[in-house]
Amino acid sequence: MTTPLSDRASAPLAGSRVLLVGASAGIGRALAVRLVAAGAELVVAARRGDELEKTVAEAAGGQAVCADVRDPADCERLAREAADRLGAIDFLISCVGAARLRPIAETGLEDWRWALETNAVGFHRVLCSSLPFLAPNALVTALSSEAVDQHRAALGAYATSKLALERILRAWQSEHPELRITRIRVGQTFPTNFGSEFDGEALGKAFEAWGNDGLLVDRYMSPDAVAGALVGLFSMAAAFPSVTVEELTVAPSAAAATFSQSAS
Ligand SMILES: NC(=O)c1ccc[n+]([C@@H]2O[C@H](COP(=O)([O-])OP(=O)(O)OC[C@H]3O[C@@H](n4cnc5c(N)ncnc54)[C@H](OP(=O)(O)O)[C@@H]3O)[C@@H](O)[C@H]2O)c1
Repeated sequence: MTTPLSDRASAPLAGSRVLLVGASAGIGRALAVRLVAAGAELVVAARRGDELEKTVAEAAGGQAVCADVRDPADCERLAREAADRLGAIDFLISCVGAARLRPIAETGLEDWRWALETNAVGFHRVLCSSLPFLAPNALVTALSSEAVDQHRAALGAYATSKLALERILRAWQSEHPELRITRIRVGQTFPTNFGSEFDGEALGKAFEAWGNDGLLVDRYMSPDAVAGALVGLFSMAAAFPSVTVEELTVAPSAAAATFSQSAS
C-alpha cells in the first residue's frame, strides 16, 4: 500500500486496490475518475450496470460489478468478485446514499427499513463480506451527511440512517483496530443524482420548511471537488500507514459556487 516517494506526486495511489461502492453517479463517479487518475486499481459497484459502464468509460479504468447493498447475497458476491479481480482490498469506500422525502408522521415501517438498509446496514454487510479480503491496515470509509446534525423536515429517516452509519463505523473502529476507519460527513454537493426522484410538490413543501428553519445553504461543492479532497485523504493514507483520520467533514468554503451565481 505504500508508494515510493518518487512516484507519489504523479500517481499517489499507484498499486492501491480499491472497492468503491455507489460509483454509478454523483460523488462516487467523480471519485472513480480521480482514483484511476491517481493510479489506483478499481472495482466500482452499484445497482445500475449501464451507469457503472459510463463511470468506467469516463474514468478510463476500473471494472464494474452490479450489486444492491440491500441484498446480502449481492454483498457477498461483490466482495468475492472484487477480491478475485484485485487480489486484496486496500481501500473500501462507500458513496452509497439515497433518501425519500417523507414528513416524520408519514414515515412508515417500510420507509425506515429501506433507509436503514440502504444507508447504514447495507454498508455493514459489504464490510462483513469484504473482511476476509481486506489488506492489513486497510482504510474503510463511507460517506455520511451534514444532515446528521440538522433537523431537516421530511428527511428524518435519512438523517437517522446516516447517524446509524456513523455509529456502525465507530463500532468497527473499536472492535477492529487492525483497520483504519474514517467517518466522512459531506456538505451540499451539486449536481448529483441525489433527490432526482423526489416528488416536486413534496420538495416544494420541504424547501419552504428548510427556508423557515434557516437551512437553505446557497453554497455548494462540485462532485469533482469533493472527490479531489477525498483522493487527498486517501493519498495521505497510502503514504502514512501509521496515521488514521477518524473523522472528516467536507463542506463548501467561502470560495465555493452559489446557486445564485449558477443561475446568472
Ligand atoms: N449530494 C449532496 O449534497 C450530499 C450531501 C451530503 C451527503 N451526501 C452523501 O454522499 C454520498 C453520494 O451522494 P451523491 O449526491 O453523489 O448521490 P447520487 O448521485 O444519488 O449517488 C448515489 C450512489 O449510491 C448508489 N446506490 C443507491 N442505493 C444503492 C443500493 N441499494 N445498492 C448499491 N448502490 C446504491 C447509486 O447507484 P445505483 O442507483 O445505480 O444503485 C449511486 O451510485 C451519499 O452517501 C449521500 O448520502 C450527499
